Amino acid sequence: MNLVVFGASGATGRWLVELAVRQGHSVTAFVRRADSIARTDVRVVQGDVGDRAAVSEVLAGCDAALSALGTSRPLRSDPRVIQGVQHICDALGVRRFVYLSVGRTVMPVTFIVRREIADHRAKEAIIERSRCDATIVRAPLLTANSTAAGWPPRMARRDVAQLMLEQLSAPSRRVVTIFEPERSAA
Ligand SMILES: NC(=O)c1ccc[n+]([C@@H]2O[C@H](COP(=O)([O-])OP(=O)(O)OC[C@H]3O[C@@H](n4cnc5c(N)ncnc54)[C@H](OP(=O)(O)O)[C@@H]3O)[C@@H](O)[C@H]2O)c1
Repeated sequence: MNLVVFGASGATGRWLVELAVRQGHSVTAFVRRADSIARTDVRVVQGDVGDRAAVSEVLAGCDAALSALGTSRPLRSDPRVIQGVQHICDALGVRRFVYLSVGRTVMPVTFIVRREIADHRAKEAIIERSRCDATIVRAPLLTANSTAAGWPPRMARRDVAQLMLEQLSAPSRRVVTIFEPERSAA
């Protein structure tokens, strides 16, 4: 498939790019700084999701988009990225969109990251209102290299990236929360 990855320079986005390339997809990495991706096997497009025209342009002709977008403003709300998700949905129309969000199981740090969680819920609402064929992946705590049992639930970034890519060929559902561990604290 012809895929566009938003947040491709991030810790999880890099795994999305790596695994998508390994799986034979044609990958476009949408990044704010072109030098943040040092690979020759993907098309790198520089831009900011707050730029509606840039988002529309990068999505022209793609089959699907994946987002591992975070925030530029740690622990604070980032309206630009919320707006960016609106831009992505508008440009995608009915095409496939896999969006990485946060589950309720980040409870031990919920208060600290409450604004980021609130932003994710705002972005999910945009996706739900859109025409996109979307899947929302609500992940638990993300780790560098281990998906371990225990509390709080955690998942390696590589594994969540793999799980997101699997959604591309999963039965088409408009909006589905596909990762919500049973032991949710909420
Ligand atoms: N950490 C956890 O335990 C956890 C748990 C569940 C869910 N999540 C969610 O998973 C997602 C990915 O997390 P992560 O740790 O992989 O994120 P990350 O490493 O902080 O990467 C965030 C990505 O978003 C990009 N970005 C931010 N603002 C942008 C803008 N205006 N335009 C274009 N790109 C922009 C960043 O680009 P630059 O490189 O230019 O900054 C970067 O590529 C986040 O939404 C996070 O809330 C995290």
